[in-house]
Amino acid sequence: MKIVSSVAELRDQLRGQLRTAFVPTMGNLHEGHLSLMRLARKHGDPVVASIFVNRLQFGPNEDFDKYPRTFAADIEKLEKEGVYVLFAPTEKDLYPEPQEFRVQPPNDLGNTLEGEFRPGFFTGVTTVVLKLFSCVQPSVAVFGKKDYQQLMIIRNMARQFALPTQIIAAETFRAEDGLALSSRNGYLSTDERSEAPVLYRELTAVAETVRAGNLDVTSLEQAAMQRLAERGWNPDYISIRKRIDLQAPTAGDLAQNEALVVLAAAKLGRTRLIDNLEI
Ligand code: PAF
Repeated sequence: MKIVSSVAELRDQLRGQLRTAFVPTMGNLHEGHLSLMRLARKHGDPVVASIFVNRLQFGPNEDFDKYPRTFAADIEKLEKEGVYVLFAPTEKDLYPEPQEFRVQPPNDLGNTLEGEFRPGFFTGVTTVVLKLFSCVQPSVAVFGKKDYQQLMIIRNMARQFALPTQIIAAETFRAEDGLALSSRNGYLSTDERSEAPVLYRELTAVAETVRAGNLDVTSLEQAAMQRLAERGWNPDYISIRKRIDLQAPTAGDLAQNEALVVLAAAKLGRTRLIDNLEI
C-alpha cells in the first residue's frame, strides 16, 4: 500500500485510473470501516482510502482534539484489506490556505436532526468530501448507512453538482449485542458499553410498533426518549422520518405507506451516539 500525504503525490499514484473506488474516513478504523473497504473492492479498482480528521466538521466544544488517532494500527488493517493507496493528508496538505469556499447543504436537509444539534457539521462534511473527491477523482465512493443523513446529503450533493462519482451505501455494521460500530464507542466506560445497545433496542421497538400499524409517531418518539432518559441517557432526538427526504411524515404520507426510517442521537455520559433503522 502506498501512503501519500500530498495532493500532487496522490494524483501521481492515481494517474490514468478510471475505476477508483474510494472510502473516506477519519481513521481509528474498526470492522465497520473494513466492511466499507470490502464493498468498495466489489465496485471498483483500485481501492483508495483516506484518513483525515476534518476540523471543519467539529463544533468548538466537540471532540476534535481528543478524537482517537491510531495511524499505525489503521495502516496495518488497510494493508490486510488490499487497499492500494492511503491518502493521509496533514491539515496543511488539505487546507494550505483557509478553506473559505464551503458547500452549503440545503436548509431542510442540512439543518434538521444532526444539523440541528451540530450546527455547521454538514457544511464541514460536504466541503471536505467534495475536496477529497476532487483529489481522488473516484468513480465510486462508499459511505455507511450508520450516518444516514450524511449519506443522503452526500448523495444529493453528488447529484446536484453532477459529480462523476457514484455514491454507494453500506449497511451498518453492528456488534453482536446490536450496538452500531463507531469510533466514539471507544469513549464508553465498561458500564456505559453494556448500556449502549439499548439505543438500538429502542429503535427496534419503535420500528416494530410502526410496522404493527401504530402510526402515532409523535407519541412513539416521545415514549422512546422518555424511556432512555429514565435509564440515565440524555437523548437529542428519536425521530421517525421519510426515507426519501428525511422530513417528518404527514398523516397523508403515513396513510400511503411512505417508506420510513427512525433516527436517534443520545448522550450516554459524555459520549454522543447516533444510530438509525429503516422501518
Ligand atoms: O463519516 C466520516 O467519517 C466523515 O464524516 C467523513 C465522511 C470521512 C468526512 O470527514
